[in-house]
Amino acid sequence: MGKTQEAAEQATRTPTIRLEVARYRPGEDAEPVYQGYDVPLTDDWAVLDGLTYIKDRLDGTLSFRWSCRMGICGSCGMTVNGEPRLTCGTFLTEFGEGPIRIEPLKGFPVIRDLVVEIDDFLDKLAHVRPWLIREGEELPLTTEYAQTPRQLEAYKQYSMCINCMLCYSACPVYVLNPDFLGPAAIALAQRYNLDSRDQGDRLDLLNTDEGVWGCTFVGECTSACPKHVDPAEAIQRYKVTAAVESVKALLPWGRR
Ligand code: FES
Repeated sequence: MGKTQEAAEQATRTPTIRLEVARYRPGEDAEPVYQGYDVPLTDDWAVLDGLTYIKDRLDGTLSFRWSCRMGICGSCGMTVNGEPRLTCGTFLTEFGEGPIRIEPLKGFPVIRDLVVEIDDFLDKLAHVRPWLIREGEELPLTTEYAQTPRQLEAYKQYSMCINCMLCYSACPVYVLNPDFLGPAAIALAQRYNLDSRDQGDRLDLLNTDEGVWGCTFVGECTSACPKHVDPAEAIQRYKVTAAVESVKALLPWGRR
């Protein structure tokens, strides 16, 4: 029995839900179209399982990203019924009888179907120097830099980011101004700024119109974050730091 026939027979035995999936090949298609697929509706299937079913059983040409299936790698972010979501953590049963519309993450160029271009995001992450910086010191691999639980707690929340880009897709500023550094990059910068082992200076990177001052504090980034990183809070906290540092720089004994 062929895969397609097998899938059709399974569909007659199990309740199904319709996924309306955006299909698009830039350069070949004039615009995205939505293709409907019926997939089994079970309590333990996430949207990603539905897409995998389509890819394996119904239409091998469908393109999408995923890796861990457990909310760790951050690669399965898509727009599900208009909201940026991790598809491995979004269950089909959440949407009643459906249909469920699945589109690529908004705010990013589409490479194909549900796969988006992430180079701009990766450049922004690297731009904030997301590593421990020690003044005039190489960090030997064998050296321990112990921290107290309180010192760890100061930045731990921001270290939970999985780079899924849902916050960028939800952010109205990033959609309008692609130069905006964006929620995850600024939260990541704060993760290192607040780390007691770090001695880096990221003020010039963040204290700009494209940095923290570009944020209008809509807060959609925090709502969309599947890991409760709260990038909106990170940005507002750094606005206070940047304002204080800017005032200090005006004083004779201030920042050099
Ligand atoms: Fe890794 Fe969803 S597949 S976060």
